[in-house]
Amino acid sequence: MKTLIQLSLITVVLWGCAGGLNPSNTAKVDAAFAKYEDSQGKAIFREKCAKCHNYRLPEMKTAEKWPGIIDRMAKKAKLNDDQKSDVLAFVTKHAKAS
Ligand code: HEC
Repeated sequence: MKTLIQLSLITVVLWGCAGGLNPSNTAKVDAAFAKYEDSQGKAIFREKCAKCHNYRLPEMKTAEKWPGIIDRMAKKAKLNDDQKSDVLAFVTKHAKAS
């Protein structure tokens, strides 16, 4: 029973990490980011937001969801207030239509 619980936990974790765009696939990353016009927020996002997990591109979340997520992730990525608002502007601008 214990093994079963551990296995399902591992599955959940792996599944969670599998979402998004793998940063090591540079051709795909270039193509994905070419869609957005250049901005400070885009540059910061690209640099900082795939250190711990795949890129979660702006259109993967709605504009309602992003502020709470960026609140959490700005701390993890050690963004200052300016960087945080630049990234938030970038992701909400291109967010998934709700
Ligand atoms: C230090 C590691 C780290 C960095 C840097 C980081 N993240 Fe995360 N991120 C996580 C972890 C851990 C989770 C899963 C737990 C959670 O949702 O808080 C996560 C989850 C997420 C999720 C899914 C949240 C959800 O509710 O579905 C999104 C979207 C996300 N991160 C975006 C970003 C963005 C954008 C940045 C750049 C500003 C970023 N992350 C930087 C560690 C990090």
